[in-house]
Amino acid sequence: MTTATRIDGKAMAAGIIETVKAATAALAPHTVPGLAVVIVGEDPASQVYVGSKARMAEDCGFHSVKHVLPAETAEADLLALIADLNADAAIHGILVQLPLPPQIDANRVIQTIDADKDVDGFHLLNVGRLGTGAIDAAFVPCTPAGSMLMLRKILGDDLSGKTAVVVGRSNIVGKPMAQLLLAANATVTIAHSRTKDLAAVCRGADILVAAVGRPEMIRGDWVKEGAVVIDVGINRVDAPERGTGKTRLVGDVAYEEAAARAAAITPVPGGVGPMTIAMLMANTVTAAYRAAG
Ligand code: GUN
Repeated sequence: MTTATRIDGKAMAAGIIETVKAATAALAPHTVPGLAVVIVGEDPASQVYVGSKARMAEDCGFHSVKHVLPAETAEADLLALIADLNADAAIHGILVQLPLPPQIDANRVIQTIDADKDVDGFHLLNVGRLGTGAIDAAFVPCTPAGSMLMLRKILGDDLSGKTAVVVGRSNIVGKPMAQLLLAANATVTIAHSRTKDLAAVCRGADILVAAVGRPEMIRGDWVKEGAVVIDVGINRVDAPERGTGKTRLVGDVAYEEAAARAAAITPVPGGVGPMTIAMLMANTVTAAYRAAG
């Protein structure tokens, strides 16, 4: 039995934020990085995430703008706002929080964002760059980018000979995470809800990335001895004191069980979450540098 190293995303993120602040100061006074975050509707989790992103942008010394649109907003109105932000020289990064209400085609919205301001890395040009090995030219989606930094801290840059299993196939996490692992020479499997004997597939992983959005679905006996586990899930569940109305955050991995077998594991909260926000700030300052030439 191993006692896993807890990969402290909060501390790593704080270090990245310090670098972002220094890079922001070095751009002054000619350029102030500008980040626009857009939310449509009142999804409580999305509101929390967007609020954190906007506040962190301010904390970094950015020009930070938050657009809150009603749930019934027409797609044309959102596209018009994006066109304005694309044309605004004070804005270097645009983030439209997902999911969007059903009357809005999220794909059309994402493809309308100027690829040079696509700090989420969701535009086809950036997806294509990542998929074809032009990673330095891409904006890489923030959650996978942060997850890779955490992995690299434990395993180094070259994952040759390592077997990686990514559980989850979303455009936001699963697919780009698999591309990053592949670019680092890992042998990659993307598993998902239709995968046969998911537990056995996971048990083969030297690197296990959980991005399914199901609280503590991945149990300790799914984890190979000595694996590195990255838990992307952030799930709010009832606290053990039932009936009190209290909630707590848990990941997609049963932490204590997995930590008994893994070599290293990210906690929830305090793991991937803070890294995601830090990478958004890093992408925004990169966008500002590119715009400044
Ligand atoms: N919804 C959940 N994660 C994300 C993210 O990283 N970016 C955006 N825009 N929406 C999200």
